Amino acid sequence: MGNLLTAVNLRAYYRTVQGEEIKAVDDVSLEVREGEVLGIAGESGCGKSTLASVLAFTVTPPLYVVGGEVKANGTNILTLDRETLRREIKGKYISIVPQGAMNSLNPTARIKNFVIDVLKEHFPEMSKEEAIQRAKERFSALSLPPRILDAYPHQLSGGMKQRTVTVISTLLNPKVLIADEPTSALDVSSQKIVIKLLVELLRMQIIKSIVFITHELPLLRHFADRIAVMYAGRIVEVGPMENIIFEPLHPYSKLLMSSVLVPEPGMKSKRIEAIPGVPPNLKNPPSGCRFHPRCPSYAKEFCDTSIPPFVKVGPDHMVSCFLYGGKDE
Ligand SMILES: Nc1ncnc2c1ncn2[C@@H]1O[C@H](COP(=O)(O)OP(=O)(O)O)[C@@H](O)[C@H]1O
Ligand code: SF4
Ligand SMILES: [Mg+2]
Repeated sequence: MGNLLTAVNLRAYYRTVQGEEIKAVDDVSLEVREGEVLGIAGESGCGKSTLASVLAFTVTPPLYVVGGEVKANGTNILTLDRETLRREIKGKYISIVPQGAMNSLNPTARIKNFVIDVLKEHFPEMSKEEAIQRAKERFSALSLPPRILDAYPHQLSGGMKQRTVTVISTLLNPKVLIADEPTSALDVSSQKIVIKLLVELLRMQIIKSIVFITHELPLLRHFADRIAVMYAGRIVEVGPMENIIFEPLHPYSKLLMSSVLVPEPGMKSKRIEAIPGVPPNLKNPPSGCRFHPRCPSYAKEFCDTSIPPFVKVGPDHMVSCFLYGGKDE
């Protein structure tokens, strides 16, 4: 099966009023394949939400795309005008449930008003009744009580709000759904229900792929097909879920796995280790390998001067670290 989205050398920077640039996404290449759940994991501040905004093209100042492409069906969607994006891409090809979306629902409006807004944006001729009916059918198909549509956001639990926002965001059957930290604010049982819903959307072929963003790498073990680990605006390792979770190779991925608070059965590392140091300021990221100031391996004298290339370490598994090749192979 093919790629639904392909990011090539993507760069997206925030420009502050002081004229500084924050290099939140800096040379990211990544594809979203048809039929997969792609997990993107990394510490807070590494650029995950920024990458999500660019992939879903919800980029607004002070964020600017300064380079690269995002291809969908062979077209670089970054070159499309607003109207084409609205008509053909947003909500239809790519939909995003942004981080914290469940808390940004209008508290004074019933859920059905949100549905009407979403559907009428794409089908101006659609009546309110038709929009609500369509949502009711979808809610029922996904085992969510349709009476939710008459509720106000505060009447719903966090888990229910997250599921509601997710279902509404997929009413137009987008090919790719980007879910940015959809479970982060939830308790463990609500997390499971939200993940179940996402998997169900894929199984029912309402959507074709999921990009699931989280700062909790181990969570992805339950449902991701592939995982990309992000550090300081870049992808440092990408590969099949089993490799990244059970045999991570990049020093950062290893630390991200061993810094989990509740290691799960079967995981290699049971020790809880804090990742040394703090994530870098992306105004002035470290030279060479961006992880070098925190890297316990720091294996080569050029780690701080050269950017490690991606090296193929297994079928479909790539790592950007000099321990696995590059420079003096
Ligand atoms: N509106 C903004 N203006 C300036 N910098 C921002 C803005 N939003 C995010 N950033 C910075 O961009 C970097 C990446 O942020 P983000 O994409 O939110 O990371 P993550 O989702 O991984 O936590 C961080 O350094 C963050 O401080
Ligand atoms: S390239 Fe060097 S500094 Fe970077 S992760 Fe690998 S060993 Fe560590
Ligand atoms: Mg984020």
